[in-house]
Amino acid sequence: MKILVTGVAGFIGFHVAHKLIKKKYNVIGLDNLNNYYDQKLKLARLKELKKASKKNKNFKFFKIDICSEKKLKNLFIKNKFKKVLHFAAQAGVRFSLKKPEQYIQSNLVGFFNILNLCKSHKISHLVYASSSSVYGANKKIPFKESDGVNHPIQLYAATKRSNELMAHSYSALYKLPTTGIRFFTIYGPWGRPDMALYKFVKNILINKPIEIYNRGKHMRDFTYIDDAVNMIMKVLQKAPRQNKNNFKSDDPSKSFAPFNIINIGSNKPITLINYIKKIEKITGRKAHKKYLNLQKGDIIKTHANILKFNKIYSFTKKTNLNDGLKNFINWYKKYN
Ligand SMILES: NC(=O)c1ccc[n+]([C@@H]2O[C@H](COP(=O)([O-])OP(=O)(O)OC[C@H]3O[C@@H](n4cnc5c(N)ncnc54)[C@H](O)[C@@H]3O)[C@@H](O)[C@H]2O)c1
Repeated sequence: MKILVTGVAGFIGFHVAHKLIKKKYNVIGLDNLNNYYDQKLKLARLKELKKASKKNKNFKFFKIDICSEKKLKNLFIKNKFKKVLHFAAQAGVRFSLKKPEQYIQSNLVGFFNILNLCKSHKISHLVYASSSSVYGANKKIPFKESDGVNHPIQLYAATKRSNELMAHSYSALYKLPTTGIRFFTIYGPWGRPDMALYKFVKNILINKPIEIYNRGKHMRDFTYIDDAVNMIMKVLQKAPRQNKNNFKSDDPSKSFAPFNIINIGSNKPITLINYIKKIEKITGRKAHKKYLNLQKGDIIKTHANILKFNKIYSFTKKTNLNDGLKNFINWYKKYN
């Protein structure tokens, strides 16, 4: 089966593609290799994918920007994709305050191109990355898919919520099966240099100060990458179906259309300061802490309710945070 993975040189796309390659799927990956963070890391991930696919020759990479409709269209015409996993996006909460236009391009225009081509090519399941940030100013914890999500607190979240709404319109109009995944702070080897874990480990190992937002009081539902990949694989297998009975439901994450929204999290939030203490223990080093106030656009606490996932796709075992952090730190030392 031929599967398209967008954002394949990115953190999550890379891991998912790796798993698909190992499972002998025929994987086509695309990415524009932008310089939001070090391109060397993106190229190194692609090298790993080439290595993993050497035996079965089941991976091909294309440098394409999803905003370029023509190139994307040609890719869809030349390859008869069965399913699409869409991870390409401008990620990052804080950067959306600096460069909002990049979010409009990749996350809205690019997303529309993907959606439209999935419709024209009758893709059997489009799985795309949304984010826990759509829960925005919500106070009810843990965050549940059935909660209203009408108060995004930065443009990044607003684009991700827009993706969910755009997907719904296509699921309803054209019966395109879509599942939006709300990721909760994914971490692990090959992780993103703009995310807290990478920045903390980097500076702790070279005795440089680390900046701690909201004085370490943030709570995050850190989710280990392998757990997220296992969950994504289950989501991919089970496309949502039309269900007229859901029409009566007030649940905004359900629909009469072949549409679904699902949280992918660990359901075990921890404060930032305790997270740092664990890193200090594993590295055997004390961090030089620079405490900063709450940053504009930051959500104070994220916590995923994952009952819906467990009900639809069955429970998946979660990696212990200490083990996950050790794996990241070992990878970081080897890679850098
Ligand atoms: N990592 C997390 O904790 C997390 C949490 C919530 C949501 N997400 C979402 O999951 C997805 C993957 O995140 P990630 O952590 O792997 O981020 P990432 O930045 O590592 O990966 C995204 C990839 O998409 C590519 N890309 C960006 N714009 C593109 C465009 N216009 N055309 C083609 N390629 C483009 C980038 O070059 C990058 O390689 C994103 O949609 C992100 O918003 C991630």
